[in-house]
Amino acid sequence: MSDIKKIKDEYLDKLSGDLNIENVNKIKTELFGKNGTISNLFKKLGSMESSERKNFASDLNLAKEELQEKLNNKFQEIENKEINSKLKNEKVDVTLPERDINQGKIHPVSQVIDEISSIFSEIGFSVEEGPDVEKEYYNFTALNTPDNHPARDMHDTFYLDDNKELLLRTHTSPVQVRTMLKGKPPFKIIAPGRTYRSDSDQTHSPMFHQVEGLHIDKDINMGHLKGCLNYFIKSFFEVDKIKMRFRPSHFPFTEPSAEVDIGYELKNGKIVIGEGNKWLEILGCGMVHPNVLKNVNVNPDKYQGYAFGIGIDRLGMLKYGINDLRAFFETDYRWLNHFGFDPLDVPSNYRGLSR
Ligand code: DAH
Repeated sequence: MSDIKKIKDEYLDKLSGDLNIENVNKIKTELFGKNGTISNLFKKLGSMESSERKNFASDLNLAKEELQEKLNNKFQEIENKEINSKLKNEKVDVTLPERDINQGKIHPVSQVIDEISSIFSEIGFSVEEGPDVEKEYYNFTALNTPDNHPARDMHDTFYLDDNKELLLRTHTSPVQVRTMLKGKPPFKIIAPGRTYRSDSDQTHSPMFHQVEGLHIDKDINMGHLKGCLNYFIKSFFEVDKIKMRFRPSHFPFTEPSAEVDIGYELKNGKIVIGEGNKWLEILGCGMVHPNVLKNVNVNPDKYQGYAFGIGIDRLGMLKYGINDLRAFFETDYRWLNHFGFDPLDVPSNYRGLSR
């Protein structure tokens, strides 16, 4: 019997046994691996007499095909066995009740931040961010806030060290400073984020959210500020007309400064924005103080502009009829389920998703 036939019969016999996948892989390597028996026989062909070579090659090819077929069948057989045993052991009981699906909701604050960002981005504002843990310099000094200003008091501000050099930012205004220090005018940004003050009651939480706005260019005036806020409030509350009034105020980083109220009325216990003769304060604003511009290396004789700071949580409460600010941060799932937003169920003025 030729070598080829012997090898073939030996391996066909081996492959008829009860094998697992490792055994079959081993046999495959023994036969067809780089130094496998069959591979080595093929290497011999080159040094054979041509008379001998023809028969040898034909026998070898037939043996190779037969062995390969047997190997493939064996692999298939093992796979089928595995599937059958899985089917037997892992039966699906289609009569069981379905599992609950826990779908998350978007928190009203995240929703409002998205809405605000998309409204301002439509009129050319980009979004900036700053750190929650801020340097005293960016939070106060660079913003022209004097040492004796009440906001610097321990009762108001969470300081993180004895030297009062690090603190939890009390407003988003330091992002104005950071933005202007790292770039060149013009600037047109908003900066939404968390802010902290030592305060807690139904309308104050020690952690709350603000959005800062800043627009600096060569000829920006209070008219632009008014137009911008008017557009924003109308878009945000989805109304065609609003009543807005600027009240003179004081902030160290703006001159002149103003607080802005919007008109509303109560209809069946609900706040309706844009009508009536009651007033609600919603933001602080003004023309950026020349000292602030100097602190960030912007020439106040060439550049000027406005800034504003809006309480985000307050806006959310007004728009979505939520009356206790503290509930925002209690992570009560029932509350979140009620007031949270479905990711696909967005209000009509929300332009963050293309629809
Ligand atoms: N940072 C102020 C606050 O938290 C709000 C504010 C007022 C921001 C006037 C401004 C501004 O940018 O121009 O009370």
